[in-house]
Amino acid sequence: MNQELIGEQFRGEIENLIEQLQIALADAVLGMDDRPALTLGADEALKALKEPLPDSGCGARESIEKLLEMNARAAANTGGPKCFHFIIGGNTPAAMAADLLATAFETVTYTWVVSPVGVQMELQALDWLKELFGLPVSMSGIMVTGATMANFVGMASARQWWGEQHGFDVSEDGMSSKPQMPVLTSGFIHASSLKVLALLGVGRSNVQQFSRDDFGRLDIDAMEQALDDLDGQPALIIINAGEVNAGEFDPVKDMIELARKHNCWVHVDGAFGLFARVSPRIAHYADGVDQADSITVDGHKWLNVPFDSGYAFVRDHGLMTRAFRYSADYLPSQDNPRPTLGAIGPESSRRARSFAVWATLKAYGRQGHRKIVEHCLDIAQHFAKQTELHDSLELMAEVRLNIVAFRFNPGGFSEQQLDELNQKLGEAVIDDGRFMAGTSKIGKRTIFRPAFSNWRTREQDVEEFAAVVVELGQGMV
Ligand SMILES: Cc1ncc(COP(=O)(O)O)c(C=O)c1O
Repeated sequence: MNQELIGEQFRGEIENLIEQLQIALADAVLGMDDRPALTLGADEALKALKEPLPDSGCGARESIEKLLEMNARAAANTGGPKCFHFIIGGNTPAAMAADLLATAFETVTYTWVVSPVGVQMELQALDWLKELFGLPVSMSGIMVTGATMANFVGMASARQWWGEQHGFDVSEDGMSSKPQMPVLTSGFIHASSLKVLALLGVGRSNVQQFSRDDFGRLDIDAMEQALDDLDGQPALIIINAGEVNAGEFDPVKDMIELARKHNCWVHVDGAFGLFARVSPRIAHYADGVDQADSITVDGHKWLNVPFDSGYAFVRDHGLMTRAFRYSADYLPSQDNPRPTLGAIGPESSRRARSFAVWATLKAYGRQGHRKIVEHCLDIAQHFAKQTELHDSLELMAEVRLNIVAFRFNPGGFSEQQLDELNQKLGEAVIDDGRFMAGTSKIGKRTIFRPAFSNWRTREQDVEEFAAVVVELGQGMV
C-alpha cells in the first residue's frame, strides 16, 4: 500500500470511528456503576489474544470491535464504584474528557514549542495544586507517571544535593568511590521508595528504617541517635505521609524539626496522604509538609484524574535542572526562556497529563475536590460502621483516612488460623469478582485494606461489599 493510499484509508476510517467511539464511550462510562469489579472467565477469554501477527490486518473498525469485545470479557472495572484494591481513584467527568482530547490532539509536552498550551497548562495546574495543598508557591513542580516517579524526582534531587554537599556533581561524575548516601525513615516506607533508591544506586538494604512497633511506627529517638552519629554529614529523611494499610502518618512536624537540627534533605511521600490537606477534617495529619524539600503526590489516586498522573514538587529548581539535564544541539538550550519540561524531570517526550489536571481543577475547583475527598472519608466511615453491624467483621485499626483495615473473624479461631482464613478469603473475593479488594499485613496479622478513593462509590456499594465478605467467609468455615 503506497503512502497516498494509506493516508486516504486512514482519513476515511477516522470518520467512521468517531461514530463507533461515541457508542462505545457511552456504554463504557454510563455502564460503569453497574458492572462488577472483575469480569469472570478472563483467563479463558484472553486466550483469543494469542495469534500470529496479521499480515494486512482487519482495519480499524474491526480491530476496535475486537478490543471492545475482549474488554467486555476480561476487564477490571477499576474506574467503577466497587474497586477498593490498592489505591485506585476514579475519573471526574472533566478529567476524563480532557484526557481523551490529549490523545486525540497527540499533545506532547516535552517543550513549549511542541505544545504551548500543554506546557503552560501543566505549569498552571501545578500552581493550582500548590494552592490546593498549601505548598510554597516558590516550589518547582513536574508531572510524571505516578508517585513512584515523583519519588524518583524528589530523591534524585536529594541525591544531587547530597553530592554537592560533599563537593561533587552526581549527575556528571557518578557515585563510584563516593560515600554512601544515608537514608533514614520509618517502617511505613512504601515499596516505591525502595525501588527508587535501588534505581538511584543507594540500594534497598542501605535504607535505615526506625520502627518502634511491628506496624512500622517511627522510633524517633533511634532516628535522632543515628543522625547524631552522622555528625553533620548530609542525609535524606523520608517522611511517609499516608501508609497503605491503615492510612497512618509519620509524625511530620517532629521529623522536620529533627531534620532541621541536622544536615538533612526531607522528602515527603504523600501519594494519597497529601490530600489530607484538602479537608480541614484531616488536615492536621499532614501539618508541616510545606517545610519539606521535596514532595510526592499522585493524581490518579485521590484527585480522580486518569492513569497515569503524579506530581513532584521540589524546593530548589536548580537541583532539578542539574539532576535531569538533557541537552544536544537539536534540543532547546537551557537558558531558553520558554520552558522545556523534559529537561527537569525523568521523561523527555511526555504526554499532556496537564489537560486532565487543569480541566478538573478548572471544572470543580477547591470546593469540588474537597467534596471528593470528604465523600471518600464518609464512605470509609460508613464501611467501618458495617464492620460493627456484622458480628463476624472486626475493625483492625482506627479509620483516619480513606482506608479501612478489617478482617473476617467468626470467632473460635486462633490468630494464625484467622490469618490463613483471611488470606484465602482475599483470594475468594477476587475470584468472586463482584468487588475488588486486597489483603495485607499489620504486624503479623492478615487484614483486608479496602481504600475508598473514587467519587463513584456509594453507601450501598460498601454495604454490599461487607455482605459479600461475610457471605464468602461463612462459606469457608
Ligand atoms: C504512599 C505511596 N507511595 C507511592 C506509591 C506508588 O504510586 P504509583 O503506583 O502511582 O507510582 C503508592 C501507591 O499506592 C503509595 O500509596
